[in-house]
Amino acid sequence: MAAQPPPLPLTSDSDFYLPADAFFSTASKEALTYDDVSLATNYSDILPKQSRLEMALSPSLTLQLPIISADMDTVTEADMAIAMALNGGLGLIHYNMSEKMQIKQVARVKNHVHGLIQDPITVRPDQAIGDVLTLIEDKDFNFRTFPVVNEQGVLVGLLSGRVVKPRYANHSVISAMSPRSEVFTIRESDIAGDPVKAADHFFSAHMGIHKLLVVDDQDRLRGLFTLSDIERITEEASSHTRPARDSVFRLLCGAAISPPRNASGELDRERTLGHVSQLIEEGLDVVAVSTAHGHSLGVGETVKLLRSQFPELTIIAGNVTSGEGVEFLAKAGANAIKVGQGPGSICTTRIVAGVGIPQLTALYVASKAATKHGVAILADGGINKSGDMVKALTLADAVICGGLLAGCKEAPGKIIEINGKLFKEYRGMGSLEAMKAGSAARYGHEKKDSNRKIAAEGVEALKEVSGSIDQTLGQMAGGIQSGMGYLGAKDLKELKQKARYIRVSAAGQREAAPHDVIEIKTSKDKD
Ligand code: XMP
Repeated sequence: MAAQPPPLPLTSDSDFYLPADAFFSTASKEALTYDDVSLATNYSDILPKQSRLEMALSPSLTLQLPIISADMDTVTEADMAIAMALNGGLGLIHYNMSEKMQIKQVARVKNHVHGLIQDPITVRPDQAIGDVLTLIEDKDFNFRTFPVVNEQGVLVGLLSGRVVKPRYANHSVISAMSPRSEVFTIRESDIAGDPVKAADHFFSAHMGIHKLLVVDDQDRLRGLFTLSDIERITEEASSHTRPARDSVFRLLCGAAISPPRNASGELDRERTLGHVSQLIEEGLDVVAVSTAHGHSLGVGETVKLLRSQFPELTIIAGNVTSGEGVEFLAKAGANAIKVGQGPGSICTTRIVAGVGIPQLTALYVASKAATKHGVAILADGGINKSGDMVKALTLADAVICGGLLAGCKEAPGKIIEINGKLFKEYRGMGSLEAMKAGSAARYGHEKKDSNRKIAAEGVEALKEVSGSIDQTLGQMAGGIQSGMGYLGAKDLKELKQKARYIRVSAAGQREAAPHDVIEIKTSKDKD
């Protein structure tokens, strides 16, 4: 037999650092996740802060930040969705609540105007100042100025904090207030375009005025701006990503549903359409048909039904981990597909069912089908740090996070103190308690099943309290932009094109985190 020629020496970067197709085809016999790989740097002519983070969830819907909060009952309700959208991302309101409550939550997000207090506390002209002082004490209000309205809600004056004092307790509000003619107001219709800009303009033009009341055409009170709020927002605006808004300047909001079944086990089409119609009436931008197994009859039928009835609606569906799953949901009419089975920090699907694919390989496989079918993919679960986001975004269009956000003050649930440390509850939607609360259908069970012994696919856990969404997303956005700077990617499209991967050994993983030092301040500590 003729001797084999010696292999040629590997001499260039491209022999080691491979673009996605070459890398994942050589690694096809082994499933990889975020910590298994690292990204190689490229020549860069952009600074991190110049890189752009917008992504299109559908032809009609763009996020300014490719981060979505998970539809979980310990992660996303209205406060979280508002904070996510204000930072340019999106919140998916969970469905472990009554349909009526979910509609209310969506309405809260859609009616939220940053800087405008939409339900100001008011007083009546016939009350005494003493009554107002009692109200302040009872409710622990930290403000003392109140709009005065009559029984029809029509503005009649403004009670200044200067006269809300015990020495005037016996005086009536009407005798102490500034009358309507002296109160500064703006019409609701005049702030529709950009409320904060309109208020900012007003306060600049009216030196010394600190309150601006919003009224409708019948002079009924509709809201209140304060100078201090507007100043804070305009200062923040220079350092933050743009909020994610709809065409009439409202914050974007998503909500999740699971395919409801009627008594005979068939898809309850009427109920699905009725509920989604009501959500859309409140201004819902995105519906997520959210289950653990998206490549399934029920999810396909639900997506088809929604697409046929609501041609313009942005639909997310999932979860899948295969190209066939992506194709199935794309053909049914979904715009964006959730990818992830078992990577989540509270998930036990892989342990319980033996099913699921490590996330980076799943994303690569899904991305091939997504490109073919023109849909976006969302990397759902297993993201613990901004570096994971950068790696995910080399293949996916956005990331979905649960655990990373569950410790923030905007997540639902109370703060619990244990041995002087503060925590919030974080539980899998497939945990027994969450399934009892309503999410059983997501895992292919019925709610009544959850009283029997069924296999939970998630755990109940705690997350350390971690500040606000503004802080957390600020850190994450900064990390993504750093990654883009290293790869020389000016936007997320270029990040995908320029990514080159290499496997990391166990020693390489240890090297990647702080080592051989005693940390006195972690990156999580606040300054
Ligand atoms: P992270 O890692 O961000 O994951 O905490 C959040 C994602 O996990 C999924 N999820 C579950 N998966 N059992 C599972 O196998 C569960 O109980 C469960 N609950 C949530 C979901 O996709 C979420 O976005």
